[in-house]
Amino acid sequence: MPDLPAVVPEASLPERVTIYEVGPRDGLQNESTIVPLDVKAEFVERLIAAGLPIVEATSFVHPTWVPQLADAEELVARLPLDGPVPLPVLVPNERGLDRALAAGCTHVAIFGSATETFAKKNLNSSLDGQYAMFEPVVRRALDAGLDVRAYVSMCFGDPWEGQVPVGQVVDAGRRLLDLGATQLSLGDTIGVGTPGHVGALLDAFDGADVGVERLAMHFHDTYGQALANALAALRHGITTFDASAGGLGGCPYAESATGNLATEDLVWMLTGLGIGHGVDLDQLVATSTWMAGHLGRPSPSAVVRALGSVVD
Ligand code: HMG
Ligand code: MG
Repeated sequence: MPDLPAVVPEASLPERVTIYEVGPRDGLQNESTIVPLDVKAEFVERLIAAGLPIVEATSFVHPTWVPQLADAEELVARLPLDGPVPLPVLVPNERGLDRALAAGCTHVAIFGSATETFAKKNLNSSLDGQYAMFEPVVRRALDAGLDVRAYVSMCFGDPWEGQVPVGQVVDAGRRLLDLGATQLSLGDTIGVGTPGHVGALLDAFDGADVGVERLAMHFHDTYGQALANALAALRHGITTFDASAGGLGGCPYAESATGNLATEDLVWMLTGLGIGHGVDLDQLVATSTWMAGHLGRPSPSAVVRALGSVVD
């Protein structure tokens, strides 16, 4: 079996993309198994060694809301925060920021919702209340010299509210960017998006003067659309993609949210398209196979399943 695809470029696609790895955070936050600290630290180190240019490490959220990541301080203390690979952490509020600053983090991410119901479920806040919660977080983080990313969730559909109009997503995204975030990651939290919808959403952001250079795409693969959606986004000029090693992931506060776009599946497609990404696929597959052993179940990634026994 070939261990790399043939390289056949497609005209007008970006030459290079940045893969923003979310496995240690989005992946592990949804696992019923609480992964030991040593394994988490090794997971992040192995992802860095595999060439991922940015690895979201954990969350400084309330430990009873996400017990899987309750060891954020201990984990971050073991990671190379001063190294060349940024290791962002999620912070929902000032308490989270205080913890991240005390731990020496240099990159943080706030996470807002495009819908009222998910703001309540995920942040215990109203939609308007989330901006009030984030405003001092972003201001203080920027004053301290930190880099601030913002997520917007439920961009393609919401399990409680159904379809989410693109205009509503653009409004939420604009408000988060206006707070001062440098990048906006558009989350298909429950994986219901399809490629035409991706194009319509990106066109709507463009129409609101938010160009692709400020956007990242964050796909979940619940309905098997994540890679098709990533290709649609590439064709619209997106150059930052969130992905999770082995396809781990989900959101404990979003019914029916399953794994993220698997980093290996994205890497395989990018390699085939001749698009630079800097990731060593063999090392990455070996890492996901190793992690699947710790979680006690096979990786949902098609590429890990195809290559796993070959490279481990
Ligand atoms: P709350 O209960 O409303 O908090 O939760 P509060 O402000 O009322 O405070 C209550 C107590 O919690 C206080 O302590 C605070 O100090 C403490 P007490 O005075 O009672 O002793 N507290 C904290 N402790 C530690 N760290 C903190 C913190 N904040 C307050 N940061 C809160 C509000 C936002 C904290 C809660 O709703 C929460 O932690 N939510 C996080 C949920 C989460 O992590 N979801 C998953 C990530 S989002 C996601 O996965 C989507 C994404 O991947 C994109 C996509 O797919 O769309 C990003
Ligand atoms: Mg997510």
